[in-house]
Amino acid sequence: PTLKEAFKDKFLIGVATNTNHDSGKDTAGVRVIKQQFNSIVAENCMKSEVIQPKEGQFDFTKSDQFVKFGEENNMFIIGHTLIWHSQAPDWFFVDDKGKDVSKEVLIERMKNHISTLVSRYKGRVKGWDVVNEAFNDDGTWRESKFYTIIGEEYISLAFQFAHEADPDAELYYNDYSMSHEAKCQGVVKMVKDLQAKGIKIDAIGMQGHSMMDFPTIDAFEKSLLAFAALNVKVMITEFDITVLPFPTKEGGAEVSMNVEYQQSLNPYANGLPEDMAQKLEARYLDFFKLFLKHQDKISRVTLWGVSDGDSWRNDWPVKGRTDYPLLFDRNHEPKPVVAKIIELA
Ligand code: XIL
Repeated sequence: PTLKEAFKDKFLIGVATNTNHDSGKDTAGVRVIKQQFNSIVAENCMKSEVIQPKEGQFDFTKSDQFVKFGEENNMFIIGHTLIWHSQAPDWFFVDDKGKDVSKEVLIERMKNHISTLVSRYKGRVKGWDVVNEAFNDDGTWRESKFYTIIGEEYISLAFQFAHEADPDAELYYNDYSMSHEAKCQGVVKMVKDLQAKGIKIDAIGMQGHSMMDFPTIDAFEKSLLAFAALNVKVMITEFDITVLPFPTKEGGAEVSMNVEYQQSLNPYANGLPEDMAQKLEARYLDFFKLFLKHQDKISRVTLWGVSDGDSWRNDWPVKGRTDYPLLFDRNHEPKPVVAKIIELA
């Protein structure tokens, strides 16, 4: 069986696609997507800098292609992402003199952006990451322009605008490092506030970008259960596991820009040694065991890319490294772990 056959009665198994997939150019990648997955999410083509690079000038070329690809292949299609501080065009937040716009103007821009995008794909995109990454890891609000100009009300407004544009679409809140207890509690409180106001929110997306030693399975499980207790579905939305060290500046959160140092942190450019490959495999299996244990609470597990060569991890947080974070290798061949995951199911 393939992944999607194995997980058929459990949860959707999805993948992020790029324009080379959606256009059919990456034929080997497309073959894997069709065989293995039943849901797709737009890796980049629905982000605001792509969709509305200038005010009022929408460009749907790539997003139309993405949705068409999904429909032709019977995929459950996910839109990513309506409101996010990153990959957002500068104009969104400023007036023609470069000064921050007023609250009213930013709300109007949010509304226009969300309504235009969601209504274009009404009934076709089944779920939207409405807001992405609104919290810091310590559970405080991220000081994005949306937050500093509008205040926390921007969250409920975004969900409301999305709901008005497509009442049947599922609406999600999505974030990373959700295993941090403080961050988890911040999100829990936000969801409760939305629910108290009668605002529709269907699921919490735990991105799931993971390292070999972070997060622990226990911490991830704890957050997963905290979200599920809110009566929303939980989704693992951007899963990958990096084997590379995080190049911090003197052990801090800041990325070191020292090029020599960064290059010294690219240990597997010529291949992943067998012992590391096995550790990675064990880590994948631990996560999938957890997902299966809570299959009644999880509606979707999505990998952030098809093959190792596609992965953003090769270029983040520093460019040009060689990582092995996904289920298919650089030749689009399934890693041995794929059969083992299928066996678990
Ligand atoms: C990443 C893409 O994979 C890259 O191609 C792009 O250059 C930057 O964004 N969290 C998210 C995703 O919600 O949108 C990000 O995707 C990865 C982190």
